[in-house]
Amino acid sequence: GKVFTYDPGFTSTAACESQITYIDGDEGVLLYRGYPIDQLAEKSSFLEVCYLLANGELPNEGEFKRFEKDITYHTMLHAQFDRFFDGFRRDAHPMAIMVGTVGALAAFYHDSTDINDRKQRTIASHRLIAKMPTIAARAFKYSIGQPFVSPRNELDYASNFLRQCFAVPAEDYKINPVMARALDVFMILHADHEQNASTSTVRLAGSSGANPFACISSGIACLWGPAHGGANEAALNMLEEIGTVDNIPEFIRRVKDPNDDIRLMGFGHRVYKNYDPRATAMQKLCHMVLKEVGAEDNPTLKVAMELEKIALNDEYFVSRKLYPNIDFYSGITLRAMGFPTSMFTVLFAVARTVGWIAQWTEMMEDDSQKIGRPRQVYTGPTLRAYVPVGQRK
Ligand code: CMC
Repeated sequence: GKVFTYDPGFTSTAACESQITYIDGDEGVLLYRGYPIDQLAEKSSFLEVCYLLANGELPNEGEFKRFEKDITYHTMLHAQFDRFFDGFRRDAHPMAIMVGTVGALAAFYHDSTDINDRKQRTIASHRLIAKMPTIAARAFKYSIGQPFVSPRNELDYASNFLRQCFAVPAEDYKINPVMARALDVFMILHADHEQNASTSTVRLAGSSGANPFACISSGIACLWGPAHGGANEAALNMLEEIGTVDNIPEFIRRVKDPNDDIRLMGFGHRVYKNYDPRATAMQKLCHMVLKEVGAEDNPTLKVAMELEKIALNDEYFVSRKLYPNIDFYSGITLRAMGFPTSMFTVLFAVARTVGWIAQWTEMMEDDSQKIGRPRQVYTGPTLRAYVPVGQRK
């Protein structure tokens, strides 16, 4: 038969052409539509970045107002939708709730099945960007046994999300602008990352013409794993387990031990063989949030900084070009903002939704795209005859 190139993990296969995100892994460069991530993190807002990723250009004032109105118009969930949450065990992992409920949006917006209609695609994209924080906040509230808080559309995207997560009925909730800005920047940093595993999953699912909400839920499923979006949760668990700076050498010894398969979570990247530019911004954000909550001498931060210093000077990590990635400092930041560990990957999913849907849309508009259908190198048995059960050894 035909022989195919074997490329496990797709380390050298480009599956599409894309104009959305550019990464130079050797130089540690990340651009959204040509704009460097550090400039966007410093000067832009998440909603503006959503517009940029989805439409290719930064919006002018009128375009932005219009977009903001379109998004806030869709923040609510149908009242029937809330029944989905009740079906989950109260200790369900919020990511499990996300996979199930976001997929269920397909049942509410059946019009989106008409993926060849540009208008329908745009509405699906707006609905996703708008409803993800609402669903995520509900997954959180459900997990802590508190009543749901409805979106308030006079608030900006991040503040609205924070309020839905942390407001409690009958108590005043005041938005802390430092936290709102921190969440906004967190989301900018996570908004897209070209053909990562979850985005490729969304594209593959979408290549068959499936409903976009169902495709996004497949992306959420893929993101959940500890090698991908689950790394922020795993990294914080690891830092807390190490506990104090004196335990670092023993931990590093175990990471380097070939007989021990633990990894330094929040380190290493398939594409970056240099400092992840998002990690630089995330570290800055981490200091800003810890300062705000008066926890600059946070012991976990001390462990992280010391661990980073040791790893960056250790032959094992240097020779393998392992640098901190975005997840190394994100867990400490989110924890200081009041989120439990189980919500970290959910926040990543909320932010990455715009990337997923922008990539899905790009694929839909690209006539050269076919259904994704990888081939294989078959290594199973050759032809053999069926043996009746009584004659089997
Ligand atoms: N700690 C210790 N050793 C590592 C690590 C690590 N975090 N990452 C890679 N290595 C070693 C690995 O053992 C291998 O060594 P050797 O050549 O001796 O066998 C070498 O480096 C290459 O590793 P690989 O697994 O072939 O590399 P990959 O490109 O397939 O994996 C990765 C990339 C991100 C899955 C991996 O670096 C990893 O598991 N990191 C920890 C998890 C993590 O932080 N993930 C978040 C990534 S960024 C955000 C996101 O994608 O969601």
